[in-house]
Amino acid sequence: MGLLCWVSALLLIVAISGVRTVCGNTELRALMEIKLSLDPDNKYLSSWTSDGDPCGGTFLGVACNEHWKVANISLQGKGLAGKVSPAVAELKCLSGLYLHYNALTGEIPREISNLTELIDLYLDWNNLSGTIPLEIGNMASLQVLDLCCNQLTGFIPTNMGSLKKLSVLALQRNRLNGPIPASLGDLEMLKILNLSFNQLSGFIPARLADIAQLEGLDVRNNTLSGVVPPSTLQPNTLPGFVKIGTSCNCCWGYYSHGCIRDWRIPGFHPIPKPASPLVSLEYSNGWDPFAVSHDGIGASYEFPPGFKFNLEDVESATQYFSDGNLLGKSNFSAVYKGILKDGSVVAVKSINVTCCKSEEAEFMKGLSLLTSLRHENLVKLRGFCCSKDRGECFLIYDFASKGNLLQYLDVQDGSSYVLDWPSRVSIISGIAKGIRYLHGSEPTKPAIVHQNVSVEKVLIDGNFDPLISDSGLLKLLADDVVFSALKVSAALGYMAPEYITTGRFTQKSDVYAFGVIILQILSGKSKLSHLMRLAAESCRLEDFIDPNLGGKFFDSEAAKLTEIALACTDEHPDLRPTLEAVTEELSKCGGTS
Ligand SMILES: *[C@@H]1O[C@H](CO)[C@@H](O)[C@H](O)[C@H]1NC(C)=O
Ligand SMILES: *[C@@H]1O[C@H](CO)[C@@H](O)[C@H](O)[C@H]1NC(C)=O
Ligand SMILES: *[C@@H]1O[C@H](CO)[C@@H](O)[C@H](O)[C@H]1NC(C)=O
Ligand SMILES: *[C@@H]1O[C@H](CO)[C@@H](O)[C@H](O)[C@H]1NC(C)=O
Ligand SMILES: *[C@@H]1O[C@H](CO)[C@@H](O)[C@H](O)[C@H]1NC(C)=O
Ligand SMILES: *[C@@H]1O[C@H](CO)[C@@H](O)[C@H](O)[C@H]1NC(C)=O
Ligand SMILES: *[C@@H]1O[C@H](CO)[C@@H](O)[C@H](O)[C@H]1NC(C)=O
Ligand SMILES: *[C@@H]1O[C@H](CO)[C@@H](O)[C@H](O)[C@H]1NC(C)=O
Repeated sequence: MGLLCWVSALLLIVAISGVRTVCGNTELRALMEIKLSLDPDNKYLSSWTSDGDPCGGTFLGVACNEHWKVANISLQGKGLAGKVSPAVAELKCLSGLYLHYNALTGEIPREISNLTELIDLYLDWNNLSGTIPLEIGNMASLQVLDLCCNQLTGFIPTNMGSLKKLSVLALQRNRLNGPIPASLGDLEMLKILNLSFNQLSGFIPARLADIAQLEGLDVRNNTLSGVVPPSTLQPNTLPGFVKIGTSCNCCWGYYSHGCIRDWRIPGFHPIPKPASPLVSLEYSNGWDPFAVSHDGIGASYEFPPGFKFNLEDVESATQYFSDGNLLGKSNFSAVYKGILKDGSVVAVKSINVTCCKSEEAEFMKGLSLLTSLRHENLVKLRGFCCSKDRGECFLIYDFASKGNLLQYLDVQDGSSYVLDWPSRVSIISGIAKGIRYLHGSEPTKPAIVHQNVSVEKVLIDGNFDPLISDSGLLKLLADDVVFSALKVSAALGYMAPEYITTGRFTQKSDVYAFGVIILQILSGKSKLSHLMRLAAESCRLEDFIDPNLGGKFFDSEAAKLTEIALACTDEHPDLRPTLEAVTEELSKCGGTS
């Protein structure tokens, strides 16, 4: 702990009563200012309250040291869209500031350089602009400085060369210009220097070759030029550079053309394994089911162009899987909202690899099936990606802006939107078409059983059209996972009675679930009571159709739909209609209104 921190800790101990209040007040005041600035709408940091105790464990992302001083602020990927407040400088004992993967704007306050105890500063993947504060050289304890992937402009400050403990300096993907300061050669502990994708110009300073620890230097996509003295970048002076190999020998002397602009150390792994779990930055591609395996499995499947996503795309789309983007979670998966680089909105479903089929061939077969599904009433799968390090696979789907059907049930006192009658009819008809397609309305496509249709699986798009989600998903999952997950839908009442005796899913079990959904849509209730079913069976529509409609429905349509629903939920699978018959029947309804 440095002097400043000691002094204030001492003051703290000396103060007689209310030790923690004295200290707490300054830090608490600073935290409240920081909060106001980071999260102006108080959306994510509502746990930071002016009458709370920052060290009491209730402030999201705040950790204190043994002297009750704030030591770490970890708010990576939290959806913060404000600015970094100069008040951070008041947190004298701060050792880690983790604000990466947010949407912060504005400048990096120069006051931050007063944080001489700070070890880790992660501001990467934000939208920070302005220049790097010139005073940054004062931050003598810094070990990791990651400012990557912002909009920073201006020069790299020369006094960065005094950050003697720095081991990672990541400035890539900004708009920095000017030369690479030769003083960076003084950074004896430096392992990673990433300056790629900027507008830096001039030479690569010869002194960088003096850094004994340097394992990775990335200067791709700048406008560096000129001749570098051959002595500086001899393979054996820079340990990590040995791997560069002979094919790129042209690069050693000349940096202006050819391969150097696209150069990095082949096979080299960028940021080292993070020291703390907070700090996961980059992942290797790792497990890649697309890679052609020894038995050639990966090669035998054709996927649509653009189908394979990079983890980086998925991470930046979801703002590093920020809590703010989490749409839902289950035992084996989580769904995040995301925005791709092209601006389109997606839902990213992450699946724990341990829950996937372990046989690669089976998994690939399932994936290939998923990509082949295309229908206007199925959620569109855009792509796929896997990460061994995260132990997850990601399915990237179009985002449905109006949520799922469950949200339109059990509406009380205008608590949410009441679907009008025509919407209900067209949603039912859309779901029928979607399932019919799955069941093989097209001869070219293998028939599949969804197995898990429910109102939660029916998403609603901007036009109030229904989109069935998770079609074919079970084909990717291990059998025991499917089994335990299906127990859930049994509990929800969608499971056809014969499943209990046969344990098998057929198209007729999807038909049963569809019948349940019709009854839910008509009644506006997620839970169907026996009385409601009796009312439906005896066609007492007024006792059964959703009262929220205020009687605004067509009797003939309602009677028809009720009849279909009851047929679909017949106890005997053989007596249930096929979806083909159902869609035909529904198309006849079309003109009744
Ligand atoms: C702060 O974060 C660092 C790095 O993750 C960790 O080593 C340290 O224990 C944390 N300090 C506190 C007080 O939580
Ligand atoms: C922080 O640093 C600035 C200069 O960068 C200085 O003017 C200011 O007094 C310092 N503030 C604190 C709170 O130490
Ligand atoms: C970042 O800021 C630029 C303008 O400064 C804006 O066009 C862009 O949309 C912002 N990006 C994000 C992810 O907020
Ligand atoms: C890298 O630089 C090349 C040539 O200047 C340019 O064509 C390319 O788009 C750049 N790549 C990126 C990702 O910016
Ligand atoms: C440098 O950053 C770029 C862009 O983020 C990344 O692709 C590359 O792997 C990094 N290089 C090193 C050596 O860390
Ligand atoms: C989730 O996993 C826990 C622990 O393995 C288990 O007890 C629970 O039943 C599972 N829940 C579902 C919905 O499968
Ligand atoms: C995946 O599941 C395994 C076993 O249930 C668990 O240990 C692991 O933490 C999970 N991983 C993720 C990323 O959820
Ligand atoms: C089936 O759907 C229910 C929700 O409707 C969900 O909780 C469960 O996880 C799903 N099962 C699988 C295997 O996706």
